[in-house]
Amino acid sequence: MTLPPQQPTFHQLFTTDHDAVRAELLAGLTAPVAHTAPKFLYDALGSRLFEAITELPEYYPTRTEAAIFASQGAAMATQVPAGSTLVDLGAGNCHKAASLFGRLAPRRYVAVDISVDFLRGALDCLQRQFPAMEMVGVGLDFSAGLALPPEAVPADSPRVLFYPGSSIGNFTPAQALAFLRSVRDACGQVAGSGLLIGVDLVKGVAELEAAYDDELGVTAAFNLNLLLHINRTLGTDFAVREWQHVALFNAAESRIEMHLQARHTLCVRWPGGQRVFTGGERIHTENSHKWRLPHFQALLAEAGFVDSQAWTDPGQRFAVCWARAL
Ligand code: AVI
Repeated sequence: MTLPPQQPTFHQLFTTDHDAVRAELLAGLTAPVAHTAPKFLYDALGSRLFEAITELPEYYPTRTEAAIFASQGAAMATQVPAGSTLVDLGAGNCHKAASLFGRLAPRRYVAVDISVDFLRGALDCLQRQFPAMEMVGVGLDFSAGLALPPEAVPADSPRVLFYPGSSIGNFTPAQALAFLRSVRDACGQVAGSGLLIGVDLVKGVAELEAAYDDELGVTAAFNLNLLLHINRTLGTDFAVREWQHVALFNAAESRIEMHLQARHTLCVRWPGGQRVFTGGERIHTENSHKWRLPHFQALLAEAGFVDSQAWTDPGQRFAVCWARAL
């Protein structure tokens, strides 16, 4: 008797609170040092520009991480339990996790992203390639809390939480600790559960700054596109040509910072308000923290993980860590 093929199931838990989004953006733009959260970089065009960034010669993290998975996947598979529920945080097109199915042999795949609409096509396609695997799409803003639907993560198998791409670097260290604690809680109580995470490491300033200020100007476009996103969301009249992309390594904070810098003194208006930016004044749009491996492993321990292990590329530019929750 042949069993009917599995169908992916979907749970949309996140809804956008447009008033809260506008209030958050306005508070940042009117603060003494103007700033916006990195999530605002990812409207539809921003997400495509980020995908293009990952193909740039200067942007080493994506290909370096992929090379670590390719060369060290067998070693990882001796630590990461097979038959797990693989929970992919920020799954997007699901390619990274799917490339590990052969090695990690999960029993169930739970793809988490802000909207299940991003996940439907990818999961439907993956389900045809892996007809026996249970697949679940969850629409959730996991940076605001990691409450997974219980039916998506039953206690019949260990949970492997998967957070690749060094997105942890876009949190401040304090936010990263809080986030890792919530991931630790989401690992549940089944023995063997843990976190598989990609982390970008400290390296020379020239290599770091080039990765965030590429010759083609794709990262500049990614950063400047934020202004168009804000114009649509707040009704501001930002003129993109009046702003310049700036990426610099702040050694004291061990982070790349992206800013948008006013080319001359200008006034930005929106319904009910305005702000003058003097020439050279900046809007701080993103931090991308670079970790030293021992410091990151100490952070994992502080968050409650045990026995962390790391695999790196020969140049020690990037690390993939596995840490158990129990
Ligand atoms: C998504 N995140 C890990 C990227 C990074 O490297 O911090 C975002 C990015 N910003 C500019 N280039 C890439």
